[in-house]
This record gives sequence, C-alpha cells and structure tokens, in this order.
Amino acid sequence: MVRVAVAGGTSSLGRLVVNAIVAIKKHDVFVLSRKDSDIFASEPNVKLFAVDYAVPATITAVLEENRVDTVISCLNLNTREASDAQLNLIEGVGKTSTVKRFAPSEFGLDNVEVAKVDFDYPVLEFKIAAIDKLKEFPSLSSIRFITGMFMDFFGPPPNPPQINVISIVIDPEHAKAGIPGDGSATIIITHTTDVARFVAAALSLPDWPEKVIIQGDRLTLDEVVAVAESVKGSKFDVTYSSVEDLKAGKITELPSNIPRYAFVPKPMVDGITQTFTIGMAIGLFDIKGPLLNDLIPEVKPLSLEAFLKKSLQL
Ligand SMILES: NC(=O)c1ccc[n+]([C@@H]2O[C@H](COP(=O)([O-])OP(=O)(O)OC[C@H]3O[C@@H](n4cnc5c(N)ncnc54)[C@H](OP(=O)(O)O)[C@@H]3O)[C@@H](O)[C@H]2O)c1
Repeated sequence: MVRVAVAGGTSSLGRLVVNAIVAIKKHDVFVLSRKDSDIFASEPNVKLFAVDYAVPATITAVLEENRVDTVISCLNLNTREASDAQLNLIEGVGKTSTVKRFAPSEFGLDNVEVAKVDFDYPVLEFKIAAIDKLKEFPSLSSIRFITGMFMDFFGPPPNPPQINVISIVIDPEHAKAGIPGDGSATIIITHTTDVARFVAAALSLPDWPEKVIIQGDRLTLDEVVAVAESVKGSKFDVTYSSVEDLKAGKITELPSNIPRYAFVPKPMVDGITQTFTIGMAIGLFDIKGPLLNDLIPEVKPLSLEAFLKKSLQL
C-alpha cells in the first residue's frame, strides 16, 4: 500500500489520476489544493488538504503528518505562478522524512530532449526548472511520465468533458485535417484516462526509472488521417503545411474549434496548434525511451481507432 498525494488533483488530468488510484482500491489518496473544498465528499478514501504553495514548510508538515510516501504533481504549468508553486512543492516534499518518490507535472514531451533543439515551447523553462530543482534532493526518487500529445485532442470530448480540448491535426466531425510537414512524422498520442491508469499502476512498481513513456498509440500523421478516414468511412479534406508556413502563422482552421473561440480565443487556439504541430513536424513527438506499457502490460490503452469509434459513437 502506498500513501500518495496528488497535487492539483482537483481538475483535468489530476482528477483522473485520483479517480484511477481510487479505482485500484489499494492505496491511501490525498489531494493537495490551494483551497479547501468538498469535491471528494462522496469519496471517503480521498482526503483533500488546502496548502499554501508559497510556504513549503506547510507542505512538509501536511505530508509528514499523513505519512505520505509518494507525491504526484499534476499542477497546471502554464504560468510562472504555477511553476513557482511546483518548485515550492518540490522544496516541501524534499524536506520531509516520509516522501521517497516524486513525479513532476510532465505528461507531454521528453523535455530534456526538447531543451537540446531549437523549438519555441513556452512552458519548457517551467518543466526544466522542476527537473533541475529535483537534483537538490538526490535521495528523492523521481520519474518523468512522458505521454506525447493527449489523444483527447483528436476527437470530440465526452459530455461533460474530462479536460478542456481543442481540435488539433484532425477534426473527424468535419472530415478535415491540418497536417504539419509532409505527413511522414511519427507521433505518440495517449488518452488521459490511460495516462491516469498507468500512473496509478506505476505506484506498485518496486523502482521508478528516471523517465518512462506512456504510449497509447504511435503512428505517422498520414496514418492518423487514414485511421480517422477509415473510422468515418469517408475521405478527409487534408491540408499540408510546411514548418515555415506554420512559423509564419498559416494555421489550417479546424471547424470544431470555431464555437470554442468564445472560451479560448482564436489567437490562443492558433498559438497552441502552431507550437504542437511544429513539434510534431520536427520529430519531437517521436519519443524514444523505455515504455511503461512494457512494465505494466495488464493496462491496455486505447488505440486511436478505438478512441475515435468511442468519441464519435460509431
Ligand atoms: N500532453 C498534452 O497534450 C497535454 C495537454 C494538456 C496538459 N498537459 C499537461 O498535464 C499537466 C496538467 O495539466 P492540466 O491541464 O490537467 O492542468 P489544470 O487542470 O489546468 O490544472 C491542474 C491543477 O493545477 C492547480 N493549479 C493551477 N494553477 C495553479 C497555480 N498557479 N498554483 C498552484 N496550483 C495551480 C489547480 O489545483 P487547485 O486549484 O486545486 O489548487 C488545478 O486543479 C501539465 O503538466 C500539462 O502540461 C499535457
């Protein structure tokens, strides 16, 4: 049995991770949040603690009092404020006598490799700051969960949605695709519910490698379109964009995003699309390394085909 705290376990990926750990029925689960709330009132096995990320000693105290041995960070890392919160979380965790394992909020690219190439990735400095901060606590075992792009972005979300999505690369509802490069680049995509199930299962591993890849599906961008066309049973309107065009802001508009502009302004949708599709075209989503799938073969993730059939209700 593990006593695990999920920082940021109140929404999106973090909430799914909490749900997946609860579903295993083996571990004691704590959630760290900036504010007190009763969102886990119906879950007697989950205790939520409000913490002040500005004061690492309060985090140390809560974790020690509850004999927490593992901390998973699912903090949003889109702002410097959130990054500072994660650095203070690591400081607080590193100073406990109880916590032996920590997972920073990665869940995307292999950021150590990304840092070696010329790629404009706004949150990279926050991801690397956490990896560097962890070096101050060598007795803490840490793991980077690397997932590629969330598969959730490749089809319509459930109602209610589990995470906020925009459409990227394919828009199966409108039989349209905006492919970066010539379509030959390989990408890893993993659904968030599978990310959560693998993270929960990884709690039972005796040792944590420094990095692991959680792989839902691995396919080329042309294969992504072929799978979507086959599931839909119709040809897609496909536009290919060079990296130069993407860098110049020539982004193929996917119709499913248009109603989302009321919540996520078009420049933001275009910016996210630009960053991640350039990343795909230059090979950053063709992530290499040890697969968590091999260590936990009993967890069977959704393929793109299975996800599309499910999300399109076909
Ligand atoms: N690979 C992909 O395609 C992909 C896509 C999206 C996200 N991600 C990654 O997944 C991870 C989680 O992202 P998410 O979208 O699930 O996050 P999110 O829902 O936006 O936020 C998760 C939690 O972070 C906490 N938080 C937010 N701002 C904070 C701040 N300034 N200080 C302290 N805590 C803060 C909040 O918890 P409280 O309010 O309870 O404190 C929130 O519930 C990130 O590492 C992100 O980069 C990957």
